[in-house]
Amino acid sequence: MFVENDFVCADFKIIPTFTVSCKAPSNIALVKYWGKFEPQLPANPSLSFTLNNCHTATQIQFKQKENTSDFSFDFLFEGKPKESFKPKLVSFFKRIEKYCPYLKNYHLVIDSKNTFPHSSGIASSASAMAAMSRAIMELEKQLNPTITEDFLFEKASFLARLGSGSACRSLKGEVVVWGKNKSVKNSSDLYGVPFGEMHSVFNNYQDTILLVDKGEKQVSSTVGHQLMENHPFAKERFAQAHENIEKLKTVLQNGDLDEFIAIVESEALTLHAMMMTSSPYFILMKPNTLEIINAIWAFRAETKTPLCFTLDAGANVHLLYPTNVKETVIQFVKTKLVAYCQNGQYICDELGTGSALL
Ligand code: PMV
Repeated sequence: MFVENDFVCADFKIIPTFTVSCKAPSNIALVKYWGKFEPQLPANPSLSFTLNNCHTATQIQFKQKENTSDFSFDFLFEGKPKESFKPKLVSFFKRIEKYCPYLKNYHLVIDSKNTFPHSSGIASSASAMAAMSRAIMELEKQLNPTITEDFLFEKASFLARLGSGSACRSLKGEVVVWGKNKSVKNSSDLYGVPFGEMHSVFNNYQDTILLVDKGEKQVSSTVGHQLMENHPFAKERFAQAHENIEKLKTVLQNGDLDEFIAIVESEALTLHAMMMTSSPYFILMKPNTLEIINAIWAFRAETKTPLCFTLDAGANVHLLYPTNVKETVIQFVKTKLVAYCQNGQYICDELGTGSALL
């Protein structure tokens, strides 16, 4: 297990140029992270499925420069310069400067693209920050070849966390836990750790994302996390997340899908309940989100298909189900649920293994 100081890179030898391409996926939390404190530490532990198809691919060219007093970079999104993203990156670089002092020796040309549709309501910050952090760690490995594979991944997760909290769960697969808790050995508030062996029913577990509302998020996650600061139910909620991690740990090992469904749906609704009971309060579900939830419940009662839903901080619905009922569920999506999706759009994804070099 690593502590913060382990991530301060003191030993490195600058090389003139280095280019790396890597990808990192999005992730969907089953136990939700909602509430944080400085520096981007979680108020409660969370657990997520790492996705496979929804990912960001990032190439970074590092070129040594003379002046090492400041950061210098160009940012391209899908091949075109995107100035609006630069301030976010500057604050990310400042946050990680202590841990990656070598960055100021380079001019970076960052070229990033997503596989999922732009403004689909799917947060791209997790995959983007994870891909960027992995690329930076690949540079660090060149500057200090003695670092281990474990260190590379855990520091990449640590850096990604400083960019966007939940991004720290996108470096590895297939299930990642972030936040110190008694049920998961080696769990840490500083970075995500892989969950480990699961029951075979979770092999290639499916996530079909129904795009109900593709608009900009009504509440940014920064504002959302702040809402937990003086929330009347914060203490109970944080305690509940610890309990749900413990319960889910058992379920992921014994494959009890009824219990899985009960925990996952309750977590999704609790996240939204927190938003509805905060000050100010928000409703992020849309009428079609509720239509879908009711349709899932009716379908499950009628067909006994172990299909459940989860939500993030928006109106889109993630359908989670084992791979052996894929055909039945996709048929249900096509005949019933697609009518509730904006422009009939949905994305088929499944459990994945995390970041990789391209
Ligand atoms: O990583 P952030 O700050 O965007 O927060 C993500 C919060 C949720 O998506 C709602 C829950 C989670 O654990 O991913």
